[in-house]
Amino acid sequence: MIGSAVYGNRWIPMVNDLVARLSDKPHPPVWLFSCGPLHSLDRPVNDTSDAARATAALNAFSHCTFPGKLDVAELSHGEQLVFASSGAAEGDFRDWIRVCNWARDILACLASVDHENRAVR
Ligand SMILES: Cc1cc2nc3c(=O)[nH]c(=O)nc-3n(C[C@H](O)[C@H](O)[C@H](O)COP(=O)(O)O)c2cc1C
Repeated sequence: MIGSAVYGNRWIPMVNDLVARLSDKPHPPVWLFSCGPLHSLDRPVNDTSDAARATAALNAFSHCTFPGKLDVAELSHGEQLVFASSGAAEGDFRDWIRVCNWARDILACLASVDHENRAVR
């Protein structure tokens, strides 16, 4: 599982570097996630260009976007300016049940692949 917080519609550089390092090598099955949106999910969820690129580069099974968390008091002055003009809301919107369901789906997928492999052998 590879994922990133989203800042200015981009994944953080460390995660993009990891994707670049893996993309020309054999690697295990990959699931991707982004964590960012600070509003209810009835607003459109942004799939970053980095997520789309990583999905293609790693042939990922899927990409899922989870809501994030923001404490304005922890932001630099510049970040507070970005936040003030973004229309986003301060708060903790993380949804651990969605995260657990996502992880369970991955587990089920891996278990069924493993089961098929054993059946072939
Ligand atoms: C300066 C700034 C820019 C952000 N830009 C985006 C954005 O473009 N899209 C988005 O969905 N979330 C955006 N966010 C929200 C963060 O992704 C969210 O707060 C996330 O939970 C941060 O995770 P972290 O604390 O692990 O870095 C932004 C937050 C800040 C402070």
